[in-house]
Amino acid sequence: MISLRAPAKINLFLRVVGRRPDGYHDIESVMQMVGLYDDVSVRPRRRGFEIRVQGADLPSGSGNLVYDAAVAFAKQAGVTAGASIRLIKHIPIGAGLGGGSSDAAATLIALNRLWELRWPRSRLAEVGAVLGSDVPFFFQGPTAWVTGRGERVRRIARPRLAGEPRPSAWAVLVNPGFPVSTRWAFEALPSRGAPGARSSPAAPDRVGSSAIIGLTNHDSVDTIPRLPGAPALVSCPVENSLELVTVLKYPVIDEMKKRLRDDGASVVLMSGSGPTVFGLFPSRVHAVRAHAGLPHAWKGWVVKLLRRMPW
Ligand code: C5P
Repeated sequence: MISLRAPAKINLFLRVVGRRPDGYHDIESVMQMVGLYDDVSVRPRRRGFEIRVQGADLPSGSGNLVYDAAVAFAKQAGVTAGASIRLIKHIPIGAGLGGGSSDAAATLIALNRLWELRWPRSRLAEVGAVLGSDVPFFFQGPTAWVTGRGERVRRIARPRLAGEPRPSAWAVLVNPGFPVSTRWAFEALPSRGAPGARSSPAAPDRVGSSAIIGLTNHDSVDTIPRLPGAPALVSCPVENSLELVTVLKYPVIDEMKKRLRDDGASVVLMSGSGPTVFGLFPSRVHAVRAHAGLPHAWKGWVVKLLRRMPW
């Protein structure tokens, strides 16, 4: 049996830079793995895939990213054997934490080992990219600069965020207990010029980047994908384009942010399409204290920002 821990991610920075002809959006994001994990384990099986899920109401067949990943991989690799896959969910679903994408990546890595295929990570990431936009990141963490619709991933050093005296290693995640649809959040972004649209970072038809990320020896984030090595982001604005629309529909997100800020977080932001928000804290002690004071109606976790790949 092969068992892996599949980590969640947070978006330390997320800017939607344009709408694409294929219906997706181009983004620029700094993604960061955090120490909240699902468990994925695979065992050999003669034929077909048997999925058992604990901790969440998910389908055991098509529509479950673990199943879809296994089927896609077997097909592309020409493998006729199957697998029994057990998924234990701890990462909330539809939370902006990339749990399903991480589970899919873990499944690909585990099956690659089980079937002794030795596919490189880059090839596994290509299989994963078809399943979900966040999947490729999980092959290139723990911190990465992510562009395109999510398939262009470059590992970077953890940047300092605006307002952070020094990069914090601890975060508190807060989730209000309901899911938000990623598709809805992207579609709800106002188009520039549309009635009611503000001239804001949420305007998705703004093509190209005006990001004000400070780069070592480089002025523009546009140069990053062409850099041969990992770019060094020296500072990063605290921004999530999707937060503006999600907060309008779910004001509780602002309440959760305020709570974390009042409890001493140096940086507070919604992750992905939400509704989970995170606060960064200077130490575990500060994070534990903030977590202990959260209202019972919300779920919370004290997590470490990972400094190493878990797989
Ligand atoms: O790729 P994934 O299945 O996670 O995306 C869910 C939905 O989010 C897509 O159907 C699309 O509507 C939206 N999306 C987007 N641009 C991205 C990623 C997701 O518009 N870069």
